[in-house]
Amino acid sequence: MSMENKPNDYVLEINNISVSFDGFYALTDVRTKVRRNTVHFFIGPNGAGKTTLLDIICAKTKPTAGTVMFYPKDKEPVRLTGMKEYKIVQAGVGRKFQVPSVFVNLTVTENMILSLKGHKGIFDSIFHAPTKEEMESIHSTLKRVGLEDRADVRAGSLAHGQKQWLEIAMQLLQKPEIIMLDEPAAGMGKPETFKTGEILKEIKKECTIIVIEHDMDFVKQAADIVTVLHEGKMLMEGSINDVLADKTVQAVYLGRGGE
Ligand SMILES: Nc1ncnc2c1ncn2[C@@H]1O[C@H](COP(=O)(O)OP(=O)(O)OP(=O)(O)O)[C@@H](O)[C@H]1O
Ligand SMILES: [Mg+2]
Repeated sequence: MSMENKPNDYVLEINNISVSFDGFYALTDVRTKVRRNTVHFFIGPNGAGKTTLLDIICAKTKPTAGTVMFYPKDKEPVRLTGMKEYKIVQAGVGRKFQVPSVFVNLTVTENMILSLKGHKGIFDSIFHAPTKEEMESIHSTLKRVGLEDRADVRAGSLAHGQKQWLEIAMQLLQKPEIIMLDEPAAGMGKPETFKTGEILKEIKKECTIIVIEHDMDFVKQAADIVTVLHEGKMLMEGSINDVLADKTVQAVYLGRGGE
C-alpha cells in the first residue's frame, strides 16, 4: 500500500458508500480500493454489511450516497453506480451467489457450453455446436478448477464443493476482470475449503477476486488483503496478520466460536 501505486493498479474503487434501508444504515461511509490480480476479502460478523456491499458493486442495491468505479484494463473507467445489472456483467464484473445454480440434469461440459453461449441463450447452445477453440477453452478452464476428469458427469452428481467450483469455472469462461464470491466455502469440509483457496490463488493470475468468508483458515490461506466490516462501518484493512493482531477486531470477533 505504498504511494507509488499507479491508478491502473486498482480495478475497483468504492467511494464513501452509505446505504440506508428505511433509516437503518447497513453501510456507512465505506471506502476502499481493490488492487488488480489480488484476492481481496471482506470479513466481519453477521449483519456487518458484507453482502450489501456486493449488492452495491453489482448494482442490485442502490446506495444512498457514494459511487463505485470500475477500472477495466486498458479501457475507460466505468461508473458502476446507476448502471443496469446485466451491463455490469457485460463490462466484466461477475458474481457468484451462495446457492449453486448449475443445471443438475446437464453434464459439466454442457453447463460450461451454456455459460459460454450466455447471452445467446439456450437455443443457440442446442443448435450450434461449440467451436474447437470454445471446447479447448472449456477444457482448460475445467482443469484450472480441478474438474477435468468430471467433464462428462451430470452436474447433479457432483459433490457440493465440485458444484461450487463448476460455477466458478462457468464465471471464468466469460473472462471477467472481477469475480465476486459470497461465502464460497460455506458448507464445505476442510479439504474442499483448502482446495477452494488454492483455486482462488490460481485464478487471480487472470482476474481479481472479491470474496466474503467467515472461515479464518481460508482467509489466511488465500487473502492478499482483508477489509473488516462491523455494523456497516469499516473497522480496518490490512494483511491478515495485521487484522488478526488488531485488538478491536479481536473484540468484535469474541464469542464467535473461535472462528
Ligand atoms: N433489503 C434490506 N432491507 C432491510 N434491511 C436489510 C436489507 N438487506 C440487508 N439488510 C440489513 O442490513 C444489515 C447488513 O446485512 P448483510 O446481509 O449485508 O450482512 P452480512 O455482513 O452479509 O451478514 P452475514 O454474515 O450474516 O451474511 C443487516 O442488519 C440486514 O438485516
Ligand atoms: Mg452475507
